[in-house]
Amino acid sequence: MSGISIIGTGAYLPEFIATNEMFTKFIDTTDEWITTRTGISERRISQDKPNFVMAAEASKEAVKNAGLTAKDIDAIIVSTCSPDFFYPNTACLIQNLIGANDCPAIDINTACTGFITALDIARNYLAADIYKTILVVAGERLTSQIDYEDRASCILFGDGAGAAVVQKSNGLYYSHMGAKGDMLHDLYCKVEYNRNNPFYIGDGILKDIIDTPQKGRYLQMDGKAVYKFAVDAMADAVEKVCGQSGFDINDLDLVIPHQANLRIIQSALKKMNVDESKVYTNLEKHGNTSSSCIPMCLAELDRAGRLKRGMKICLVGFGAGLTYGACIFEY
Ligand code: UT7
Repeated sequence: MSGISIIGTGAYLPEFIATNEMFTKFIDTTDEWITTRTGISERRISQDKPNFVMAAEASKEAVKNAGLTAKDIDAIIVSTCSPDFFYPNTACLIQNLIGANDCPAIDINTACTGFITALDIARNYLAADIYKTILVVAGERLTSQIDYEDRASCILFGDGAGAAVVQKSNGLYYSHMGAKGDMLHDLYCKVEYNRNNPFYIGDGILKDIIDTPQKGRYLQMDGKAVYKFAVDAMADAVEKVCGQSGFDINDLDLVIPHQANLRIIQSALKKMNVDESKVYTNLEKHGNTSSSCIPMCLAELDRAGRLKRGMKICLVGFGAGLTYGACIFEY
């Protein structure tokens, strides 16, 4: 078995704290509604730093905690669905900011499932001995895609970044991933290209998405559909990955789910029959930071000295696509 060893973690959180109370000033909501329906009390919003700068800060901390310098990184894989540029990609921007060598710098986008996907790709590079040390990063500034008049979505999201430096290990590693592209309408954010292009003729298949009114540039979500999908997909992915490994979910030491909504997490846990004490959440303070949630949890646990070598950890998530995925690895 070829596994992964996380040898350093890092996270960056913007300074500005948006409390639930602040939302009551401009939308029809209450702290009580947000807390009971989502578990979120506050989230951070980046007022000055673009996504790639936040991601570079998290990366620097991860590299430092690994006892390495940026020159030791052989490849950078970044998950983001809220990049600052179409191109260059965020990985190239991070490579430049942290002063890494001319290593491969790759972005991936499976939305909120992204860190699990990036880690899975890194694991396969490591297993094939293509690279020795990989920086896996998730950076998200989703608040730049939010319609702050849409009370059902704007209260959910926050900004932040997380990173991990990974190397090959002899530990166990299993993963299961998938996507349901036919559920694209349930969660999406469209790119606003130049609509005055005289050659643009639209697209019959996705006409309802492509020809959007001006609000269409924001994140669009059918909360109930995503909620239902999330509970089933997370429970199913964990069952599949446990099935591969031969473990019962309660044999594991730690489960870190995507931090979308505490009720989604609790319903999925119930379906998985997992002991709640094994599950780590931080959404109360950070909200949903998309693919950054999981590496930010890892960094918090690491800073608190709660990650021990040999621990069996399960990461599980879902996101726009709709995508889903889970992995089990030995820390
Ligand atoms: O990374 C993935 C990202 N997306 C998600 O994870 C979203 C998953 N979905 C959810 O988390 C939940 O569906 C929401 C938090 C979005 C909504 O919670 P819900 O319990 O499913 O509420 P609901 O949609 O059934 O709405 C219940 C009521 C509605 O009012 P009426 O129609 O019953 O009068 C909503 O208009 O709550 C209303 N509502 C609000 N009320 C106060 C919706 N948002 C708010 C709000 N404050 N912020």
